Amino acid sequence: MTQSIDNPSMQAKLAEAFAFRHATKVFDPKRKISESEFNTILEAARLSPSSFGFEPWQLMVVQSPEKRELFREFTWGANGAFNGTAGQLGTASHFLIFLAHTDASMKHNSAYQQTFMREVKQLPDEVIGFINQAFEKFQEQDWGIQGQRQITDWSAKQAYIAMGNVMNTAALLGIDSCPIEGFEMDKTIEVLEKHFGVDPKLYRPAVMVALGYRADEPQFPKTRRSQQQTVSWF
Ligand SMILES: Cc1cc2nc3c(=O)[nH]c(=O)nc-3n(C[C@H](O)[C@H](O)[C@H](O)COP(=O)(O)O)c2cc1C
Repeated sequence: MTQSIDNPSMQAKLAEAFAFRHATKVFDPKRKISESEFNTILEAARLSPSSFGFEPWQLMVVQSPEKRELFREFTWGANGAFNGTAGQLGTASHFLIFLAHTDASMKHNSAYQQTFMREVKQLPDEVIGFINQAFEKFQEQDWGIQGQRQITDWSAKQAYIAMGNVMNTAALLGIDSCPIEGFEMDKTIEVLEKHFGVDPKLYRPAVMVALGYRADEPQFPKTRRSQQQTVSWF
C-alpha cells in the first residue's frame, strides 16, 4: 500500500475556508461576484454526485430585484425583518433556488428518467431496463419512498449535496453564502408557479442559497460540538 502524502498547504486552505464560511445575514450590495467565479460555483453544483446519478434537481438564479421581492413577505429567513435590514434577498450578489423533482418526475420509470438515461447517459436499452428494475426496488422495497412528499424529499437530499458544494466552493474563493430554509412552502410554490412558470406537479422548492460578500464580520463566533461528541470510531 502506498503511503499517503500530507498536503499541509491544501489542508490549511481548507481549514481557512471552513472557518471563513458562515451564514451571512447581510451582504455588501455594491459587490458582485465575477462571471467567471460564479460559473465555477455553478460547475460545483452541476458536477455534484447524486443517488443513481439521476441529478433530481434544477437550479434557478434569481437576479431581478423585482422577482426577488416576490418572496420577501414569506421568506422570513432572508428578508432581514429580524435585524431591520434588506436581508439576503435584498443584498446578495446572486440568489439561488434549488428545485427538487417530485414523484411525477422522479418515481421509477418516469419520463424524465428514461430521457435522462438515453440522452445524458447515452445508455443502451438493456442497461436502462436493468437500472429501471434496480431503481424500482430501491424506491418500493429497500427504502419505501412513495408519494409526492417522500420522493420530493429524496430529491431534495440530492439537491443539498449540490448546495454544500456551492457553499464550500464559494468559501474557497473568498465568497460568502447563506443557506435558506426560512420560507413558507405553500406560498413559495405559488409564486414559483405564477411568476416563474414552475409546474408544482414536476418541481418543488428544496432550499435557497444567497451568495455575495459580507457587509460585516459575523456577530457571533462559530460554535460546534467536538469531534469526540460527533464522531464514533470502530
Ligand atoms: C439547510 C439550512 C437552512 C438554513 N436556513 C437559514 C435561513 O433561512 N436563514 C438564515 O439566516 N440562516 C439559515 N441557515 C444558517 C444556519 O442557521 C447556520 O448555518 C448555523 O446556525 C451555523 O452557523 P454558521 O453557518 O454561521 O457556521 C440555514 C442553514 C442550513 C444548513
